[in-house]
Amino acid sequence: MIIAIDGPAASGKGTLAKRLALHYGLRHLDTGVIYRAVAKAMLDAGADLNDEARAAMVAQTLDPATFDDPALKSQEVGAAASVVSALPKVREALVSFQRQFAEQPPGAVLDGRDIGTVICPQADVKIFVVADPAVRARRRTLEAQARGEPADEAVVLADILKRDERDRNRAAAPLKQADDAHLLDNSHLDIESGVRAAIDIVEAVRAGR
Ligand code: DC
Repeated sequence: MIIAIDGPAASGKGTLAKRLALHYGLRHLDTGVIYRAVAKAMLDAGADLNDEARAAMVAQTLDPATFDDPALKSQEVGAAASVVSALPKVREALVSFQRQFAEQPPGAVLDGRDIGTVICPQADVKIFVVADPAVRARRRTLEAQARGEPADEAVVLADILKRDERDRNRAAAPLKQADDAHLLDNSHLDIESGVRAAIDIVEAVRAGR
């Protein structure tokens, strides 16, 4: 089984994806981490984030062992990831890794922006997770503060809105709900209710409802 979860920054899709993977015994890939790893390598090298050939080279030679780096979680790397991920050659370089991950038995849960539309258009279940920007900013601010990073909620909100706008309006694989994706509004759900709603969607799809 392949489950595709897409949605904007800080919508809670990562937590839902992790929990669904656990529930169904599937592997999980947070695809945002891949773009973050490319962005961090570019930042570390002092490279121009819009240098498409260089970023594509970084993407082609990426080592998944670096995906565990806690530094990938920072706002700075997230914003840079939104820039490099708009480059078509970077996206192209990462397609086969993601598809292979998804297709290995017993299947997987992938979360990102274009999983249901581009990476796994044949996914068994697609969920598009949304949440109010103010709620997302609050969650990201608390997460950053828990990691010991100073975070100002108004700045985080502005960053989220800018990132959404860039991710939605880029030409290559923009953030958008697939026609056959189920919408899950996570604005007013705590984690357990969100997980329950996601499992309900999966079960309804499997039962052919
Ligand atoms: O989900 P995230 O915040 O870790 O993603 C960081 C950036 O990476 C996001 O702003 C856009 C990009 N991204 C993408 O273009 N496609 C994906 N499948 C996942 C992330």
